[in-house]
Amino acid sequence: MAKIIDGKAISAEIRNEIKQQAAEFESKYGFRPGLAVIIVGDDAASQVYVRNKRRACEEVGFYSEAYELPASTTQEELNALVDKLNASDKIHGILCQLPLPRHLDENEVILRIAPHKDVDAFHPYNVGKIMIGDYSFLPCTPAGVMALLERSGIDVCGKECVVVGRSNIVGKPQAMLLLHKSGTVTVCHSKTKNLSEVCRRADILVAAIGKADFFTGDMVKDGAVVIDVGMNRRPDGKLTGDVDFASVEPKASYITPVPGGVGPMTITMLMQNTLTAAKNSVK
Ligand code: GUN
Repeated sequence: MAKIIDGKAISAEIRNEIKQQAAEFESKYGFRPGLAVIIVGDDAASQVYVRNKRRACEEVGFYSEAYELPASTTQEELNALVDKLNASDKIHGILCQLPLPRHLDENEVILRIAPHKDVDAFHPYNVGKIMIGDYSFLPCTPAGVMALLERSGIDVCGKECVVVGRSNIVGKPQAMLLLHKSGTVTVCHSKTKNLSEVCRRADILVAAIGKADFFTGDMVKDGAVVIDVGMNRRPDGKLTGDVDFASVEPKASYITPVPGGVGPMTITMLMQNTLTAAKNSVK
């Protein structure tokens, strides 16, 4: 029987710490950390994320601005908004929710957000800093995974860590963060041969491939720590991760549920980055 890593409880604990620090910040400097969230178009999943981000800002006592732009927004209009927010004294972090409608260039937006306000840590400047282990902003989802491990007392040093998924948002930065903690890291993806065999080597398995219930008990070593980054909808509408919880849980030593595992941590790390950005602005 695995111990369930409660992402909601750990997230609440960290948000409380952020709230206290935000209150101290406000009493010292007379203004609150501020986050701007931009959403273009009417993607339903993105709207839920954006609503949750605004709520989280309220919860920790941040100032927030939300920009809900129509799907017909032009690149020039979006660029002009980013420029305005880059110049705003009230805003310390800017997040443009991805994906954008197809006629807009995501890379152009990522490059345009000032690196010191890039709380997603998507700008190549911040990606490079993550690579060398000298970062101001943590990539939100991978940092959430690291916080879950740390607060559950799981040491990464010397462990076989297998990350399945190589996206710029999760897989690649996740591998770097595990490496910085001295894990022995293997990154797998859709072309990996003998995936099950590689997964069975893992002391710590991070599942981030976006396929519902893909990882089954036979792919997991006895006693492994299993972190499920997946967020998929089953045909019946139920939310599920990349891990088949029923067959993996009996073999694992620790496991994150979906929902209630990694998900709540991502936004918490965004709050952490916004606080860091605000603190950096007064240095
Ligand atoms: N879309 C899905 N996840 C994310 C995220 O972490 N940041 C942004 N900007 N867009 C996303």
